[in-house]
Amino acid sequence: MMDLKKLTFELLLSNRRSVQDYQYTVPSPDSYPYQWLWDSCFHAIILSHFNIEDAKLEILSLLSSQFDNGLIPHIIYWDKMAKTDFPQINWGKDQTSSITQPPMIAYAVWQIFQKDNDKSFIKKVYPNLYNFYRYLLTERDPHQNHLIGILNPDESGEDNSPRFDLALRLPSIHTIDENRQKRFELADQNIKCNFDASFCMRNFFWVKDVPFNSIMVENLKILSQIAEVLGHSEDAKFFLREQEKIVEAMKKFMFEDNLFWSTFGKDYQKIKVKTWAIFAPLFAQILSKDQAKKLVDDYLLNPKEFKTEFLLPTVSISEDSFDKQALWRGPVWIATNWFVYKGLIKYNFLDLAEQIKQSSISLISQSGFREHFDPFTGEGYGARNFTWGGLVLDML
Ligand code: GLC
Repeated sequence: MMDLKKLTFELLLSNRRSVQDYQYTVPSPDSYPYQWLWDSCFHAIILSHFNIEDAKLEILSLLSSQFDNGLIPHIIYWDKMAKTDFPQINWGKDQTSSITQPPMIAYAVWQIFQKDNDKSFIKKVYPNLYNFYRYLLTERDPHQNHLIGILNPDESGEDNSPRFDLALRLPSIHTIDENRQKRFELADQNIKCNFDASFCMRNFFWVKDVPFNSIMVENLKILSQIAEVLGHSEDAKFFLREQEKIVEAMKKFMFEDNLFWSTFGKDYQKIKVKTWAIFAPLFAQILSKDQAKKLVDDYLLNPKEFKTEFLLPTVSISEDSFDKQALWRGPVWIATNWFVYKGLIKYNFLDLAEQIKQSSISLISQSGFREHFDPFTGEGYGARNFTWGGLVLDML
């Protein structure tokens, strides 16, 4: 029987880095030797089970590169000399990228606060959080339709997911190089339009993504609680109202046949590719109980869709684009399992949540802390010593 807690602790120790007064954790020493936004939120959540002060430092380093407009970049290149095969991408910036990632920061901060009730920490980070979520609510929703837009697939955290094929004008089967080429072109366009989010979205990549918006909803609810604790009751009301508006807009523009679909373009064309994203609204309790039950029965428990040997493939096996080995086009990832696990718990699907947890543990005990896993055999693929695998410890 492996000692998962001990292994995770050792992994964290060897992936933590210090620079100047900052500390952060790399997602994988060889493949991803910098700091990434949502990874750091996951790392802080994992660290909160071991050392609360380190969890706080993880968040503080992440916030240290916030832009004047509030955006928090998805990569911070603390060590530009690090040896890696991660591609050199021109973001128009030197030390950071110029795009963001799913806004999990309030959630991670709240988890830390739950453990030690240290108000001085939430007080310290509140202005950064306020500016980040305000940025997303305004700059990423220029028409005030209450859905938050992303301007590059990488902002979803699922870089080459088939949800973005339509917007990238790619067929459902293509190579990773073809996909990267398109995303790098978007980064170049981003620079040319001087990081004007509204212009970039309108002209180059106009997508409202289901997981990003679901994560935003959950995080705004938490931000509202943080504001309340700090006595900012007007802010608390504001953030609560904003998340309600997003939920309404998701129902209006994204929902059809009991599923939430990401949308493309100004007319909100639904992108009907079944990925794990159909389960993301569970995390923010956007579905009714009946809708959740139907979703689980029709898709999670269906061997023709998502019920594979190891739960949970990131793309339905019924999709043309499904590829059991190709990054975000099929394999199991521990972070997506964690989101679905948390969602299932909220709806009291305890047995199913337990199955997802056990699958995640089996994958790691069989194949180690790999980036992603084959949903049929459990074989590990991609980066090694991948830190967010430790999220299994947070499946409680
Ligand atoms: C890949 C993943 C992204 C993650 C990054 C670092 O780019 O798609 O979600 O943040 O690696 O782990």
